[in-house]
Amino acid sequence: MHRWSIAACYTLEVAKVIVGVGGGIAAYKAALLVRELGRRGHTVKVVMTRAAQRFVGPVTFTGLTGEAPVVDLWDPSYAGEVHVELAAWADGLVVAPATANLMARAAHGIADDALTATLLCFDGPRVFAPAMHHRMWDHPATARNVATLAADGVRLAGPVSGPLASGESGMGRMAEPETIAEALEAALSDGRPADDLAGRHVLVSAGGTREALDPVRFLGNRSTGRMGYALAERAAARGARVTLVSAPTALAIPPGVDRVDVTSALEMKAAIDAARDGADAIVMAAAVADYRPSERADDKLKKTGGPLTVTMVRNPDILAELGAWRADSPRSGAGPVLVGFAVETRDLVAAARGKLERKRVDLVVANEADAAFGRATNRVTLVDATGEEALPELDKARVADRILDRVVALLRR
Ligand SMILES: Cc1cc2nc3c(=O)[nH]c(=O)nc-3n(C[C@H](O)[C@H](O)[C@H](O)COP(=O)(O)O)c2cc1C
Repeated sequence: MHRWSIAACYTLEVAKVIVGVGGGIAAYKAALLVRELGRRGHTVKVVMTRAAQRFVGPVTFTGLTGEAPVVDLWDPSYAGEVHVELAAWADGLVVAPATANLMARAAHGIADDALTATLLCFDGPRVFAPAMHHRMWDHPATARNVATLAADGVRLAGPVSGPLASGESGMGRMAEPETIAEALEAALSDGRPADDLAGRHVLVSAGGTREALDPVRFLGNRSTGRMGYALAERAAARGARVTLVSAPTALAIPPGVDRVDVTSALEMKAAIDAARDGADAIVMAAAVADYRPSERADDKLKKTGGPLTVTMVRNPDILAELGAWRADSPRSGAGPVLVGFAVETRDLVAAARGKLERKRVDLVVANEADAAFGRATNRVTLVDATGEEALPELDKARVADRILDRVVALLRR
């Protein structure tokens, strides 16, 4: 393997990759995956099952890789055993689409075609991208096979929920090619992060603040803190000293991260202000309430016959204050990199750009409320002074890495 010594979320390898294509409707997307892997600098060989060839013609992959896919265990163009040679050649192997049948065969060590025989010979990083009807995915036999594969060290990319070939909607749709390529690269690097944040102090906020109405009730929001925790975890893995100012969440403290627990927006502001000096980057992923009840009742509010009216007052805008603090500091312009988040239900990018300019920050991560809250994945657009980059739907750890790649680049300015 050849190393890329570029700023990236992993010490990336340009690798030799086998793409195993199974016989499902999503086989056409394997062509896009092969192209995506090629675009990322990897060398690809394709192995197809017999059923896969009913969905896509092998010549499609010949055109994309410059080499005919292996479709036959008895391929005469290989002097020795084709599966042994393929396994010896590859650095990584991805199966997309991974049919229910392929996963069953792989889980049980069956080796009755070129792909499953190669899988048995190969002990490097393996990623399966399942794709099937939701009832196939939900079947206990598939669940058992998935568990067996996972215990054998196979990583899964997807499936995701969405429209299926049958016209129904449900869990079983293949993950997007970019997501699968990301999962393979993560597997290839074995989670080994670049230490490009070593010596840096990164301050991250996470979770949704709670604004108390009385001793037992609060006004809150749908943030679960997963995005902020992913940022803290990845920044620490990349060598940073990390302070995580966290509103209440159900999440465990990521390894090596110093967590400061807060509840309300005012407490969050105090904690951020106390930690901001000396920070190299501040990433405000928390969902901070814009308003709080003007009064917190000392005792639990009692039901009355009529409506309850609550007067709300503005909370400080922590991100805008950080922007102003940095601009006004004697080291003007030299303060920490500032990253904000924008969650909107409409006009997302325009709102993010407005926030970027008004609050004088370096980068705004724009996400739609439904794509963001409480999910393991997120689909974001990175908005900075130079333009916008729309990322595909990615695991939150991968989104965190893409944001941190930007932070690293900004720190090198
Ligand atoms: C039109 C059609 C679509 C299919 N789509 C899928 C699919 O998306 N996922 C799946 O697991 N099986 C699907 N199957 C069933 C597989 O093709 C079948 O189980 C086959 O034996 C898989 O072979 P393989 O795992 O060797 O590729 C489909 C079958 C047909 C006829």
